[in-house]
Amino acid sequence: MRRSQAGEEQGAVGVVDLRAEAVVDLAAFRSNIERLRAAAPTSQLMVVVKADAYGHGAATCAREARAAGVPWLGTALPGEALALRADGDRGRLLTWLHSPGQDFAPLVAAEVDISVGARWALDGVVATGGPARVHLKVDTGLGRGGASREDWPALVAAARRAERDGVVRVVGIWSHLSCADDPTCDCTARQIAAFEEACAVARAAGLDPELRHLANSAATLLTPAAHYDLVRPGLAAYGLSPAPAVATAAGFGLRPALTLRARLSAVKHVPAGHTVSYGHATATRRPTALGLVPLGYADGVPRGAGRSAEVSVGGRRVGILGPVAMDQFVVDLTGLDASAGDEVVLFGPGADGEPTAEDWARAAGTIGYEIVTRLGSRLARRYTAESATGWSGCSG
Ligand SMILES: Cc1ncc(COP(=O)(O)O)c(C=O)c1O
Repeated sequence: MRRSQAGEEQGAVGVVDLRAEAVVDLAAFRSNIERLRAAAPTSQLMVVVKADAYGHGAATCAREARAAGVPWLGTALPGEALALRADGDRGRLLTWLHSPGQDFAPLVAAEVDISVGARWALDGVVATGGPARVHLKVDTGLGRGGASREDWPALVAAARRAERDGVVRVVGIWSHLSCADDPTCDCTARQIAAFEEACAVARAAGLDPELRHLANSAATLLTPAAHYDLVRPGLAAYGLSPAPAVATAAGFGLRPALTLRARLSAVKHVPAGHTVSYGHATATRRPTALGLVPLGYADGVPRGAGRSAEVSVGGRRVGILGPVAMDQFVVDLTGLDASAGDEVVLFGPGADGEPTAEDWARAAGTIGYEIVTRLGSRLARRYTAESATGWSGCSG
């Protein structure tokens, strides 16, 4: 991904990409950060920028978050953290998804905080010679990373020894929630109890970390008991509802930051019975105006959403005809005065009646996380400080 002076991150090189763009409203991103800060006023804030900041562009979002005073950023992969360092980020940064054999030395050298949830990871960190900042991870019920209840005492004891040797400093104890989006379920309370127990075991072993952290977006907004010293929201920072069954983005006071839009590359009129897209499974039932949208599943548009997703053309919602292909899909423009070059909004904040990422998630049988995160690398990102208005082609 390259960045131009104009603040664009773009995948295509050497051509003007007029077909589509993902516009990220940084004012919305900042407003969401303020909303999250207000939801957990006594905790430090970590904004999770893994997976290219949930498709919004990690480098720009990281810089924007720091400019908004966010003390912590979080990534899953070590490479994601080091890319931020290479971009000049110097703030507190945690990375948590490591694999056996991982060389932790570049992370230690770059002063990236490292999650340790297993003995092999602690040994790898100790092998660097330190000094390493470590967050010990305990599995409180999600069943993914982190030491099990049985393995926790031994991990804690080994970490304490490494701390005495001056190789590591245990700055955090942490875990991840499984059902924070469902306040009716008692599993968050059970995970909090397991977390308390793990913290007590660590204290008894002589550890005194300054940070305990557990809360994702949903818990930041819904569960103060999970806030502890630091909260780790991701999705909500980008303005999507982390608990759609509880409230919409607007209901949570969030503003979706991303608008995905394209320009119709063709409009044509066909008779009834004209087949559309691969497989000949779809045929027009009446004389139909077909609009070609130059975005496909290679750009992250879910192939299966074609049956029920809608897009907005000229402020009107229209349906998709036939399956979404790799680079393009077809919409039904019958009755609209639309021409090639007109704007098509796949999703946005929803304020002008356009579909939201949440609408696409429902149509695709998935979650909003997947809709924004899957946007492809060849799609240009453009950053504005306001809601997306006007069209700007991206030159590379
Ligand atoms: C360990 C960890 N913490 C925090 C988050 C942020 O979660 P959310 O996007 O639901 O706020 C994630 C994302 O999945 C995660 O993996």
